[in-house]
Amino acid sequence: MTAETELAEQPSTTDTATPAVRLDAARLSFGDRTLWQDLDLEVAPGEFVAVLGPNGSGKTSLLKVLLGQLGLGSGTASIAGSPARAGNPDIGYVPQQKTIDAGVQLRGVDLVGLGVDGHRWGLGLRGRAARKRKVAAAIADVGAEKFAYAPLESMSGGEQQRLRVAQALVGDPKVLLCDEPLLSLDLANQRLVSELIDRRRRTHDTAVLFVTHEINPILPLVDRVLYLVDGKFRIGTPDEVMTSAVLSQLYQTEVDVLRVRGRLVVVGTGDTMDVLGTAGAQHCHGATVSEIGLSDAPLSVAEPQSSGVRS
Ligand SMILES: Nc1ncnc2c1ncn2[C@@H]1O[C@H](COP(=O)(O)OP(=O)(O)OP(=O)(O)O)[C@@H](O)[C@H]1O
Ligand SMILES: [Mg+2]
Repeated sequence: MTAETELAEQPSTTDTATPAVRLDAARLSFGDRTLWQDLDLEVAPGEFVAVLGPNGSGKTSLLKVLLGQLGLGSGTASIAGSPARAGNPDIGYVPQQKTIDAGVQLRGVDLVGLGVDGHRWGLGLRGRAARKRKVAAAIADVGAEKFAYAPLESMSGGEQQRLRVAQALVGDPKVLLCDEPLLSLDLANQRLVSELIDRRRRTHDTAVLFVTHEINPILPLVDRVLYLVDGKFRIGTPDEVMTSAVLSQLYQTEVDVLRVRGRLVVVGTGDTMDVLGTAGAQHCHGATVSEIGLSDAPLSVAEPQSSGVRS
């Protein structure tokens, strides 16, 4: 196949019978430490799966296994029916947000272009025209036309993040892996980025694995949750997994899950889940829910905000 034909617009040919992501009896260990094992997971095309868990539970490592950057100790991992491997064009990846180093003169449009042909060179004229169209469409999809030609280092975190999502989607992947893509975004940008990803999976049947410490901004979009804690895990719908009983079992301590106006407040995990979705999250790091007044004033959890909490 030539570069030109490869770049031409292809109709979506998603095979709904083949899982977009599949893990069978998967185990990941570093030395004698096992992060998780006996993990069976099938993600269907178009499904939105949130990956939750405390710091160090192996969420990023799971994405790295699917990206072919980490090998399993045992079991298998496949993407759209093929074994996980590095450089897989079926995967779009939004890595953890990084600050762009000053002096890197990459423009937004260049970053998005890397998603089309970062691994190729020597496109013909038709290939270049198709590439340009794809990049422009991806930039328009995330509403980044106004700043796409500016250097990345001059952009806000939210603007950069939109372009990272555009880069991940420009190759029309079957699977989108997002590692805490809402971190440090304000409410408007959290909504924009989540809605963008949600629209994409509905229109293109892209499966989404979305690592987050904040489930509330994406709660209405989530089909299933994979919750990892200290080598144990649960998979199910948010209603099945986000309960006091299940989280208490996973954390081996008493955890309360409260539902307030369609939002979840988790109390007692001792990690960042405790401030999930609390209105005061930005200015109450480390505080318990009762310390920020939620126990007597549930109204204060009405609006989500980015907690910016991370290890
Ligand atoms: N290549 C590696 N070699 C050894 N240990 C590693 C390696 N990669 C990750 N780890 C360890 O595995 C654990 C899980 O790391 P991972 O980055 O997957 O956690 P996480 O769930 O994404 O956490 P966070 O919420 O902080 O991002 C950590 O304790 C980390 O130090
Ligand atoms: Mg991580």
